[in-house]
Amino acid sequence: MKRVGFLTSGGDCQALNAAMRGVAKALWFELGPENLELYGFLDGYKGLIYSNYKQLSFSDFSGILTRGGTILGSSRTPFKTIKDPDENGLDKVAAMKQNYYKLNLDCLVILGGNGTHKTANLLREEGLNIITLPKTIDNDLWGTDMTFGFQSAVNIASDVIDCIHTTASSHSRVFIVEVMGHKVGWLTLNAGISGGADIILIPEIPYDIDSVIEAIEERRKRGSNFTILAVAEGAISKEDTKLSKKEYKEKVANSPYPSISYEIADQINKKTGIEVRVTVPGHMQRGGAPCPYDRVFASRLGTKAAECIIEGDYGYMIGIKNRELVKVPLGEVAGKLKEVSPDAPIIHEARMLGISFGE
Ligand code: F6P
Repeated sequence: MKRVGFLTSGGDCQALNAAMRGVAKALWFELGPENLELYGFLDGYKGLIYSNYKQLSFSDFSGILTRGGTILGSSRTPFKTIKDPDENGLDKVAAMKQNYYKLNLDCLVILGGNGTHKTANLLREEGLNIITLPKTIDNDLWGTDMTFGFQSAVNIASDVIDCIHTTASSHSRVFIVEVMGHKVGWLTLNAGISGGADIILIPEIPYDIDSVIEAIEERRKRGSNFTILAVAEGAISKEDTKLSKKEYKEKVANSPYPSISYEIADQINKKTGIEVRVTVPGHMQRGGAPCPYDRVFASRLGTKAAECIIEGDYGYMIGIKNRELVKVPLGEVAGKLKEVSPDAPIIHEARMLGISFGE
C-alpha cells in the first residue's frame, strides 16, 4: 500500500493537472487501485498546514490532461515566514508534519517553483518523504533545463507579439509587450525571439535607455516604420542597478508608472516624440490549456515521480537535462535561481539576428 499526498503551491501554470495525472495514472497502473491511496491538499501548503484535504479517486484525474490551472488550488505561502507562528500561534512546520503523519503518508508530491522548493526542502530536512515537480512559466528553477508551463507561456506571449506586429506596422509606432518574469528573462527572451521582437530587455542584461533609442532610430534609418520591444517585468536600467535593494524598492513603490514598460515608453516618447504603446498580457500567460509539449513533458515527469515513489526513493526534484529525465537532490535545488547568462549562446544568436538588448 502507498499513501501519497499532492499539493500545488505558488503561482499556477499550465500542465499542473497533467503532471499530477501522470503520477496518479502511473501509480494506479503499476500498483493497482487496491494498493493506493491518494490525497490532495487544497490551496498549496495552506492545505497541509490546516489539514484541508480530500481523498482523490481515479476519476479525479480523468479528463484533466488538457485543463489549465490546478484541481487542488494554489496559494503563495512565503518561505521567509514559514517558521513564524501564524496569527493564532500555530507552528506551521509542526502542523505540516503532524498532518503528514496523521494520514500515514509514504510521500508528498509537491508541484511548485522557487519558493515552493525551499519549503519542500525544509520538509525533507524535517524527515518527510518528498518528491517535487518543477512548475513555473518563468523556467528559473535550478537543476532542470525546463519547467512545465514555460513552453505554454512562450506560445501565449509569442501570439501577443504576433498580433502586435500587424497593428504596429500599420501605425508607425513603437510597441512594448511586457512579458512576465520579475527575476529572470527566459520567457521574454524566447517569446521575443519567437515573435520577432527588435529589442529584448531582460533583468539579467541591464539596459541603457539611450541605446534602446539608438536601436529604434537605426531601424528607422533602415526603413522600418515600427519597432517592437519585448520587455520583462523585471527589466532594469543600468542606472537603477547602482541603487541599493532598499533604494530600488522605494523607487518602484513611488513610481508614477504602473510598471517598467510604461517608464520606458515615456522616456522614449519624451526623447524622440515617437508614439509608444504598451501591451501587458499579464496572467493570460499562465492561463488556458497546456501546449502539447507541456502535456508530454509533465506526463513524463509524473511517471518518473511514480517510479521514485514505488522504489521508495525520495528527496528529489524530477527535472530534465539534455532531454533525459533526471532526479536532482532537493538540497541542491532549493534557493538557487537559474538565470539567463549574458554569455549564453542564445544571447549571441539573438544578437546575430539583429536583436538589441539595449546595452
Ligand atoms: O509564477 C511566476 C509568475 O507568474 C511570474 O512570472 C510573475 O512575475 C508572478 O508569478 C506574478 O505573481 P502573482 O500571480 O502573485 O501576481
